Amino acid sequence: MRTSIAVLGLAALAVASDVHDLTKDSFGSFVAENDLVLAEFFAPWCGHCKALAPEYEEAATSLASKSIRLAKIDCTEQQDLCQDYGVEGYPTLKVFRGADNVQPYAGPRKAQAIVSYMTKQSLPSVSLLQSGEALEEFKTADKVVLVGFFGADDKSSNITFSEVADELRDTFLFGATSDPALAKAEGVKVPAIVLYKTFDEGKSTFEEGFTKDAVAEFAKTASTPLIGEVGPETYAGYMAAGIPLAYIFAETPEERASLAKTLKPVAEKQRGKVNFATIDAKAFGQHAGNLNLEADKWPAFAIQDTQKNQKFPYTSQGSVSDLSVKKIGKFIDDFVAGKVEPSVKSEAVPEKQDGPVTVVVAKNYQEVVIDSDKDVLLEFYAPWCGHCKALAPKYDELAGMFKSHADKITIAKVDATLNDVPDEIQGFPTIKLYKAGAKDAPVDYTGSRTVEDLVNFIRDSGSFHIDASNGSGAETHSMEGVETEGMPQQAPAATKGASSAASGASSAASGAASSGASVVASGASDAAETATKGVKEKVMSAAGAVKEALIDDDDEMGEHDEL
Ligand SMILES: *[C@@H]1O[C@H](CO)[C@@H](O)[C@H](O)[C@H]1NC(C)=O
Ligand SMILES: *[C@@H]1O[C@H](CO)[C@@H](O)[C@H](O)[C@H]1NC(C)=O
Repeated sequence: MRTSIAVLGLAALAVASDVHDLTKDSFGSFVAENDLVLAEFFAPWCGHCKALAPEYEEAATSLASKSIRLAKIDCTEQQDLCQDYGVEGYPTLKVFRGADNVQPYAGPRKAQAIVSYMTKQSLPSVSLLQSGEALEEFKTADKVVLVGFFGADDKSSNITFSEVADELRDTFLFGATSDPALAKAEGVKVPAIVLYKTFDEGKSTFEEGFTKDAVAEFAKTASTPLIGEVGPETYAGYMAAGIPLAYIFAETPEERASLAKTLKPVAEKQRGKVNFATIDAKAFGQHAGNLNLEADKWPAFAIQDTQKNQKFPYTSQGSVSDLSVKKIGKFIDDFVAGKVEPSVKSEAVPEKQDGPVTVVVAKNYQEVVIDSDKDVLLEFYAPWCGHCKALAPKYDELAGMFKSHADKITIAKVDATLNDVPDEIQGFPTIKLYKAGAKDAPVDYTGSRTVEDLVNFIRDSGSFHIDASNGSGAETHSMEGVETEGMPQQAPAATKGASSAASGASSAASGAASSGASVVASGASDAAETATKGVKEKVMSAAGAVKEALIDDDDEMGEHDEL
């Protein structure tokens, strides 16, 4: 009796959920019958999935009334289905308009954000505004909205605007009208676009050549606050903006507001050339270290070239008078004119290389790695990274094996937390082979971290095909795993070796703390992840990693091996 009541209770609970649990049999008809579906591909053991569950449930309930359905698929049971949709990590969220029109979900994993994102998805990408009231209401429907004003017979502007809207529909609301009275009331000459915003001057008008690129550019520039705030939600956007970012570090909101006000004329002058943002030095002070500023003297100012990943710290820091319009204005003018040298962080060049492994620092990188006519195998490591520590004795052994070939190959390492090197690295350790004569196209090492596989890699991929193995010797301890500076927001699919759990978690956390990690793209949207791919933003995600490492439960911690 009791059992059956309990079972009934469970059944009732299951039915009460607005999240539809789908299998390979029900999935096809479900996405065919529902115009707009958000599907979560998950694994029961994945911590980020567990964190998402209540948010997802809440979003499902509030979207049910709008006929937007939320579904979930347990990939440990529906492996084929998950494979069909290219699921590589958990959770993966995808937006379905029928089975064939599939888009990644690009918003944060919070109920409110899911509701807002999916609501935008359900609207036509351009809302037709047919009255003054509709326009007024639309103007304040979001932080930023764009309204196109065109002549009724101006097909070309209409098409251009719609194309931009289709592309940017996840980011902005788009409306349009061909009512000449509305254009007149807004004081614009058709064709025109007005971007309404809840900050700065309230609106910006575009009346130039109506090309897709120009319109998209306008949307990007005009929607960026003149002096915004760098934080978890905005960081990825700044990194993807394509122009340098100037940071104003200050500890209190009052100081930030006051400095923003002071520097407004400078920001205005550089609008479209350099973005300006304040950043909370209390919460994200360690990021100053990434920018080669002193990490405990506020206020401070630095520019980051987000394209080349170069940093330009302003060397006077610690006093409001250092950040005057005159001083910063000149610094920025010089920067824009290309007169400021980027700051390069480097350890001292070792006086002699006495270990088996050659030590590379920023200052000898060019000489040892690039200008050398040898093959160079270079490991990028972080002192806090547990996988790097595990690799160290193997790497020494490897270097020893190639000692007699020192005229052809250098086995080297660089502490990437203390040296600015130009390479894109995704996590620690990263190993790359810089082949003689092809130093601009290093080969990434993707094998297992064993001496044997590394030896084979050098034999197969190196320019000299040196074989240091004599068929036996090399050991084969496997040491899989890459530590990213931050915890990725997904657990990789298909693996569940919990072995390195504890060490992974703790070194990621300590790494986050020590690598100056700071502003996090926590709950990072997929957009954030794809929009940016340098090292810096990975570093940025580490502060959140610390938090997550502290609050997450243990079972999935070992899964954070790849981004
Ligand atoms: C743009 O074109 C579409 C399709 O022809 C039409 O429905 C819409 O009303 C036009 N928009 C405006 C603002 O005229
Ligand atoms: C491999 O064998 C060759 C020739 O027998 C020898 O000279 C070399 O030292 C050996 N290498 C290793 C790594 O044992």
